[in-house]
Amino acid sequence: MTESQGHTESRPTLPLLFIMGATGNMGGELARQLLVAGANVRVGVRSPERVKESGAFTGAEIAHFDASDASTFGALDGVQRMFLLWPPGTDVKRDVLPVIAAARERGIEQIVFLSILGAERIRIVPHRRVEQALEASGMDWVFLRASYFMQNLSGVHRDDIRVRREIFLPAGQGRTSFVDVRDVAAVGAKALMEGHRDRAYNLTGSAALTYTEAADIFGVTLGRRVRYVSPSPIHFVRVVHQRGTPWALTLLMLAEYTVARLGLAGEVTTTVAELLGRPPISLRRFAEDFREVWL
Ligand SMILES: NC(=O)c1ccc[n+]([C@@H]2O[C@H](COP(=O)([O-])OP(=O)(O)OC[C@H]3O[C@@H](n4cnc5c(N)ncnc54)[C@H](OP(=O)(O)O)[C@@H]3O)[C@@H](O)[C@H]2O)c1
Repeated sequence: MTESQGHTESRPTLPLLFIMGATGNMGGELARQLLVAGANVRVGVRSPERVKESGAFTGAEIAHFDASDASTFGALDGVQRMFLLWPPGTDVKRDVLPVIAAARERGIEQIVFLSILGAERIRIVPHRRVEQALEASGMDWVFLRASYFMQNLSGVHRDDIRVRREIFLPAGQGRTSFVDVRDVAAVGAKALMEGHRDRAYNLTGSAALTYTEAADIFGVTLGRRVRYVSPSPIHFVRVVHQRGTPWALTLLMLAEYTVARLGLAGEVTTTVAELLGRPPISLRRFAEDFREVWL
């Protein structure tokens, strides 16, 4: 059950691309880039009425889709290729594997999945379980194994920088190869439109920075001092939870920053540049592009 937004000409030769998570960072950016490129897009969201009212994604079909509710899987009918993510905090077996099964039943040819850098090494992460299910599915798969999103600094950590003028997280002096979601989405759009098959892309920025260096970049860009504070894990959990972050997300963040503190988040690859034919977006450029978010 889908409905077109705005005027769409019929594009029978283009494959229908299904994008989930379009109200979030990656799905939203991906859908926008695909629409600009003229692709045939259906976004699957949990609140279709709200998305239609917002006027976002003009030219796309807006369908009701909830990974936890099989009665909405009709949104996948007629789709050739899809973008899948693991919604943070959900259960892979209950909330993701049924989507993969439904996609296969409907003859979907390819799934592009948003994974994390190092998923093949950290076998207990939910992303690796999803990857394994896709590898065994018989469908073509592409894994976007992305490093830490720069957009976390304009999202979940926005007020640290905007209000408290600090970056507050327990990564010590470990390095992180920050990547811009716009680059991850550009690779995802290319993989979907060109129908890449059975590829795992390790996607990072072009530099691995400490959070002290990241804070300095924000300080220069915003014209005010931004300091980096690396609390103990217990202090971090207490403060972040007191600020209203749910336990599941707090613990996910702790795990993420512990990986960085241990020096395991600094891998830099050349994949973005090779696929896009230009260097990845730098943290400085990201800070400049979204400067007003922190002012
Ligand atoms: N943050 C990072 O640094 C990073 C790096 C690499 C990979 N990742 C991975 O990226 C994924 C998150 O991507 P993101 O940052 O783009 O997400 P996000 O901004 O947190 O948004 C999550 C999206 O998932 C949707 N969603 C939640 N539950 C759903 C359900 N049951 N069915 C369908 N959609 C559902 C949400 O829709 P509603 O609006 O309806 O809630 C929203 O659109 C996670 O798997 C994370 O591990 C993150």
